[in-house]
Amino acid sequence: MRILLRHGRVLDPAAGTDAVRDVLVVDGSVAEVADHLDTPSDTEVIDCDGLWVTPGFVDLHTHLREPGGEGAEDIATGSAAGAAGGYTALCAMANTDPVCDAVPIADMVWRRGREVGLVDVFPVGSITRGLRGEELSPFGELHGSAARVDFFSDDGIPLADALVMRRALQYATAFDAVICNHAEEPDLTADAQMNEGAMSSVLGLPGWPHEAEEVMIARDLILAGGVGARLHVPHVTTAGAVELIRLAKQRGVRVTAEVTPHHLLLTDDLVASYDPVFKVNPPVRTDADVQALRAALADGTIDAVATDHAPHVPELKDQEWEHAPCGMLGLETAFGVVNTAVIRAGVLDPLQAIARFTTGPAGVRDLAGHGGAIAAGRPANLTVLDPERTWTVDGRALHSRARNTPYQGRELTGRAVHTLLRGRFTLRDGEVVPDQPSTTSTSEVAQ
Ligand code: DOR
Repeated sequence: MRILLRHGRVLDPAAGTDAVRDVLVVDGSVAEVADHLDTPSDTEVIDCDGLWVTPGFVDLHTHLREPGGEGAEDIATGSAAGAAGGYTALCAMANTDPVCDAVPIADMVWRRGREVGLVDVFPVGSITRGLRGEELSPFGELHGSAARVDFFSDDGIPLADALVMRRALQYATAFDAVICNHAEEPDLTADAQMNEGAMSSVLGLPGWPHEAEEVMIARDLILAGGVGARLHVPHVTTAGAVELIRLAKQRGVRVTAEVTPHHLLLTDDLVASYDPVFKVNPPVRTDADVQALRAALADGTIDAVATDHAPHVPELKDQEWEHAPCGMLGLETAFGVVNTAVIRAGVLDPLQAIARFTTGPAGVRDLAGHGGAIAAGRPANLTVLDPERTWTVDGRALHSRARNTPYQGRELTGRAVHTLLRGRFTLRDGEVVPDQPSTTSTSEVAQ
């Protein structure tokens, strides 16, 4: 099967390419990239005039909720949301029920992703058994499994015990694996409901102070630097956190960091609506924080945009603010938000921005060829985006099973048009294309 993506603006951060090119895909791989390619017979031509052709997007932080939370999302609906957002690889967070702390869970998540066939799903292992913050999960077994887990996180539960954190970092070095700790000092955030600041005073809600995030990041940077381990800081939200990570990178600490689209756009004045759709952990902060995060994404202090896509059933999410769980949808709106708030605002050029969706996250963990170059012989994991398409977000039209988008009714500019996973359309003309089951193993797709 041959597909010619004709005349798109190829944004290939790995090669530094930003130029109009033709891309020929043959049997699941990129066969040729050139200024102009003649159309061989039996080739489907996709007109990409005015569109961007990029590596498939990679999300380091997705809640797919399977196993255990299928009322909100499962691997099939979450994969569809990913394909619709331009993603070809999703990292499924470990806070499922049961927790992803053992090989059978990790392998089930990985295999189910392959069966659905819309994105490749890479499980995140928990740092501690049952997310209890005590006994470490079996990193070696998880790393040696079919899912090849090399990234560990207890997700929203901070690892408060510094000794356990230090042991986790030490253990991870044996596999060059990455430890990702929720950056929140829990003693400073008891009963927190929103960002601590002027707005929380006005609303009378207890706040998450920015120091709670920064104290934990500082501790973890010192511990990771001490043992030479790899640390990934999830969803950075404060200007002070950015400063700490910048300094640590300058000093050679092996740290990477991510920011969510919502923290690049939304601010805590939205909480005045008491609409629980804006409740998230870490919380949306101030405009000064948003500006610092945008600058950090531009200068590379923050390596990746990650969604923290967190579906919740309406029965739980649509309660009074105080009782609603934290989290918001993100996969299908991520590019639109970043394009609107960051690229079109002139903070990042398109090539840099696409790097934060592709090569940036792909540099954090081994993702079997995702997020890499668009070059002959590489797997054709590709995204075609319309950067000019303006659309109004409607939660009912999203592919996620849940509806908790904070952008309901908002206009965004930029949307995925086509997504290809190993040369097969998973999104075509904006429509998700279901797959037949696949039996390929991870090692076969690793290039
Ligand atoms: O907002 C959040 N939602 N933050 C977390 O840390 C957890 C996540 C979830 O699982 O819903």
